[in-house]
Amino acid sequence: MNLDGKTLVVTGVASGIGAATASLLQQNGATVIGVDRNVPAEFSGTFIQGDLSTPEGVAAVADRVPEGVAGLLNIAGVPGTAPWQTVLAVNVFGVRDLTRLLAPKIADGGAVVNLASNVAAGWAARQLEVARFVQAADAAEALAAVAGDPEVTGNSYRFSKECVRWLTQVQASEHLGRVRVNSVSPGPVQTPILEDFKKDHGREKVEGAVALLGRAGQPQDIAEVIAFLLSPQASWINGTDLCVDGGLSAHRTVTTLASAAV
Ligand SMILES: NC(=O)c1ccc[n+]([C@@H]2O[C@H](COP(=O)([O-])OP(=O)(O)OC[C@H]3O[C@@H](n4cnc5c(N)ncnc54)[C@H](O)[C@@H]3O)[C@@H](O)[C@H]2O)c1
Repeated sequence: MNLDGKTLVVTGVASGIGAATASLLQQNGATVIGVDRNVPAEFSGTFIQGDLSTPEGVAAVADRVPEGVAGLLNIAGVPGTAPWQTVLAVNVFGVRDLTRLLAPKIADGGAVVNLASNVAAGWAARQLEVARFVQAADAAEALAAVAGDPEVTGNSYRFSKECVRWLTQVQASEHLGRVRVNSVSPGPVQTPILEDFKKDHGREKVEGAVALLGRAGQPQDIAEVIAFLLSPQASWINGTDLCVDGGLSAHRTVTTLASAAV
């Protein structure tokens, strides 16, 4: 892949998938503008320290990004062990609002990749709630509106990634013919967030899934797919999700249906 002369904005650059993606893009010639609330231990591009959990924080980051970037990779995210308001603020409104503010700065033919998750596979069952939440004009009002809904507050990470699945289609539709927008849905990947997933979803469930697959995903597995979605080879892929989970979702669907069919 030749990314010479392209500048890409990568959020979540201080850890895990964001760090691996930034490094892969740089190895292929890209200039990377990294964004994170934490200062990365190893990162050689331009770094913007910022907090994507508030509209003000998002706007401050967007202000520092120059015109003409080739794409935006919304990789920063928080697990369901954080307060539900933070999970939804960063994973949904951080992605929505940063993309909204940076879209005019993305050159024609550019691309956006959002990080969803394989836990959002059933998102269509909650399509209306998801659409209502994502399109709320005011994030604080949207959070207040779901405060009494345990399906959302008790499963905030899953709901946030369901919102990312829908948001990706909304953004692709909004920028049709100019900027492509896709999401990637990883299964369990060996990064610091995995320990939080064990606390949130159950240690046995996560470790059982990894055992079934033979290994956890590695940040590089996801970075390669994100890089592909930016490439000219992916120029007809738009508004969709690529599940990168070693086959876990397929296996769960097959075994659930097979046992129901008995
Ligand atoms: N690792 C997995 O198993 C897995 C599976 C599915 C989806 N994902 C998604 O992939 C993305 C990357 O996760 P990861 O595994 O690299 O996790 P990670 O914890 O290693 O990295 C997340 C990064 O996001 C940054 N971040 C969090 N809140 C922020 C904020 N308010 N402002 C700015 N930066 C903030 C963190 O500082 C961190 O550097 C996330 O969106 C996550 O939900 C991960």
